[in-house]
Amino acid sequence: MLVDSGSDTAATLLAWYDRHARRLPWRAEGGARPDPYRVWLSEVMLQQTTVAAVKSYFDKFTRLWPTVDALAAADDADVMSAWAGLGYYARARNLITCARAVSGSGGRFPDTEEGLRALPGIGGYTAAAVAAIAFGRRAVVVDANVERVVTRLFAVEQPLPAARPTIAQLTDTITPAARAGDFAQAMMDLGATICTPRNPTCAICPLMHGCAARIGGAPETYPRKLPKRAKPIRRATMFWLECDGAVLLVRRPASGLLGGMRALPTGPWVDEDPGATGAPAALPWRDVGSGRHVFTHFALDYRVLAAQAPSRLNVGEWWPLATLDTAGLPTLFARAAQIAMLEHV
Ligand code: ADE
Repeated sequence: MLVDSGSDTAATLLAWYDRHARRLPWRAEGGARPDPYRVWLSEVMLQQTTVAAVKSYFDKFTRLWPTVDALAAADDADVMSAWAGLGYYARARNLITCARAVSGSGGRFPDTEEGLRALPGIGGYTAAAVAAIAFGRRAVVVDANVERVVTRLFAVEQPLPAARPTIAQLTDTITPAARAGDFAQAMMDLGATICTPRNPTCAICPLMHGCAARIGGAPETYPRKLPKRAKPIRRATMFWLECDGAVLLVRRPASGLLGGMRALPTGPWVDEDPGATGAPAALPWRDVGSGRHVFTHFALDYRVLAAQAPSRLNVGEWWPLATLDTAGLPTLFARAAQIAMLEHV
């Protein structure tokens, strides 16, 4: 094996982190322990999302709800609106459930990986990350950045996702007993700034000497991945119904995709163009544009149909056009709304 012993790797990386750690709002400085609430919130937000996308949401959440008790007492709808745009809305629903469980049992997060794992909505990754970062526990933390760094360090030939157990084992071999939280964040920072997906800057990498993929000459080809299957396409129609300077919004059913979020009314999401099926009223609908939104497992091709309502139907909410940006629409519907609003210019 080309990699130094695990402890050398950790010591080298921690020394690098001490000089180059990114300053991020949820991190404590000068060796202090960070606030577990802020660590937990940031880790939930950062799943499937980049640091750059998360920062403003983190600031907003901690301003509105500075403690887990404050978040637990918030209205679900306010939390969902504040989350709008971050995506993967099940995370926001789990966030509320978890905050209420923690607040209901005294307001302190459990300080072990097992205790955290037992909370609703906390999975293996979050439990390990919070135990290590907030409580200094030794835990093996693997996110997408860590996966990339580890598959390169060890030149793991097995493709993702099958390689995950191997990657976890290898990460375990290099995780130190002390400062496991700093080590995890150092791996993440290395992955985000140097060991990047397409153009790793190996010349300035603190782990270059032990990196099997660099020595092999093609580090950017790791992690190996199976060829992607094309995503299926579904089709939908969104309805933009205006009356007296307001637009009709509905709330999506609590479970399912974009569950609990405000939305434009849509018909079914199906293989063939559904036309005006599911329209909130029988009106002369005009086609005002179309778009595509890519979800994890499928792409949605949608058309936007617009009409004027003769009076405010007694369904959903009529939201003033002038303040539509405060409705907390998920990106899919915010884009569709933009398409419809262009008609007004
Ligand atoms: N990605 C996930 N958690 C992170 C953290 N604590 N620091 C930087 N990037 C991260």
